[in-house]
Amino acid sequence: MQAPNMGGSARAARAEVRQAFQYALIIFTLTALLGLANATQLFGALDRNTLLTHLHSGTLGWITMGVIGIAIWIFARDREDLFAPVMLSALTTAAYVMAFWSGVFILRGVFGLAELAVIVYWWWFVYTRARAQGGIGRLDIPKLSVLLGLTTLVVGSTLGVTVQVLLATSTAIPTTVDLVGAHASAQTGGYLVLIAAGFAEWQLSGGGKRGTLGLVQVYLLFVGGLVLAVSLLLSPVLPQAAAQGLPAVATVLTLAGVVIVAVRFGRVAIAAPWMAATGTRHIAIAVAFLVLAVILQALLVQQLVAAQGDFTKVSPGLVHALDHSYFIGVMTNSIFGAILVTSADRPRLWPWADHVIFWGLNLGAAAFIAVLLTVGTGEGAKPFTHPVSFVAPIMGLSALLGIATYLMRLMGSPAALSARARA
Ligand code: HEM
Ligand code: HEM
Repeated sequence: MQAPNMGGSARAARAEVRQAFQYALIIFTLTALLGLANATQLFGALDRNTLLTHLHSGTLGWITMGVIGIAIWIFARDREDLFAPVMLSALTTAAYVMAFWSGVFILRGVFGLAELAVIVYWWWFVYTRARAQGGIGRLDIPKLSVLLGLTTLVVGSTLGVTVQVLLATSTAIPTTVDLVGAHASAQTGGYLVLIAAGFAEWQLSGGGKRGTLGLVQVYLLFVGGLVLAVSLLLSPVLPQAAAQGLPAVATVLTLAGVVIVAVRFGRVAIAAPWMAATGTRHIAIAVAFLVLAVILQALLVQQLVAAQGDFTKVSPGLVHALDHSYFIGVMTNSIFGAILVTSADRPRLWPWADHVIFWGLNLGAAAFIAVLLTVGTGEGAKPFTHPVSFVAPIMGLSALLGIATYLMRLMGSPAALSARARA
């Protein structure tokens, strides 16, 4: 079943959209398995390389491959063959994820640069189609959000690759700029916020609208993300007042943007059919997690400013709670929702699984986030001695069930075709 109120721009997805989602699901398996190992600590504490593999298999392999699928769905021209670019993007991403795991800096440098090329390609893909569809000045709010979100992804990834190339060439990471902090904040506080807000609006209220309030929302979120990244980048050299004030200003901009999101389509999200096994409820709950993530981000910025920019003094539980609000609450729900919508014409294998996945993923994520905020990080604890070991697996096992179920559905033929084949 399609999401309600599908506007003129919410159109049927083409094969390459499902192809991108399939590659994304395959790579997400690794993220979820490493998450389960981290939660249970059954193999001891994970080393830095493995944690970075968990992180980037999730953000690049799962989330960004999923976003590529969404970008094709929204922007592709009627007649174009994108099979090869999607496959090359998935292969490059998988190679970069494995380079993270290997710990070999030269491999990380080479594949990091290749991954940046992939990201720039998809930014260019969206930009050229946006221009051809009447120009940037006439894009509706969902499309503009996706274009600007990908623009911030290019900025954030360039910062990430810079770190990677410096490490590969054995050059010391400069201490006069905070490259990693700027990279992480651009990617989460800018890229993910814009994509999630744009996609949710496209699905929940339909596209086609370009009102003043919507434009204010998009530019607050875009500028908020960039100001946060730049202020963290330059924080070591900024005068103290600016180093403390700019992140606070950025946070206020992003918070204001998200308040507008809630005003513009919060009511449609709340009215989603929560008991119906469709993609709509996943996309609606992503909006709630977006509000939570931005509030947690504001708390993190407050702690960072109080610690005068010293990230080691910030509560790791809060950082991990914020991370999973974005990565699971916002983005995994958005992409699972997208997959359910685009596979709605296929036989619904394992129909019982939809409810287990939706409730398990979301109750598990909510409990995991609550534990991280109240009890703190479970890292370093013995197996099954910390509440994280009990709640995170609910989220992880539901994600794995989602991967298996949705891969099977995406690989099946459309219902009409299989009925004809049977006849
Ligand atoms: C071409 C794309 C990317 C490259 C080259 C890249 C590179 C890097 C590098 C080199 C680090 C530091 C690793 C270290 O500590 O040794 C890092 C950390 C990080 N990256 Fe990425 N990354 C990319 C994409 C992303 C995306 C899409 C996201 C999120 C949506 C992301 C989020 C983060 C976060 C949260 C950190 C952790 C900061 C910390 O806690 O230490 N990255 N990345
Ligand atoms: C897109 C998906 C995901 C991303 C990007 C992601 C990212 C992260 C990051 C950045 C960290 C912090 C690592 C560090 O200390 O540097 C982390 C920790 C962790 N992740 Fe994930 N994660 C994802 C999915 C999952 C899933 C599905 C599970 C399921 C069990 C999971 C379980 C955990 C656990 C238990 C921790 C340690 C938290 C603590 O005790 O403080 N993650 N993850």
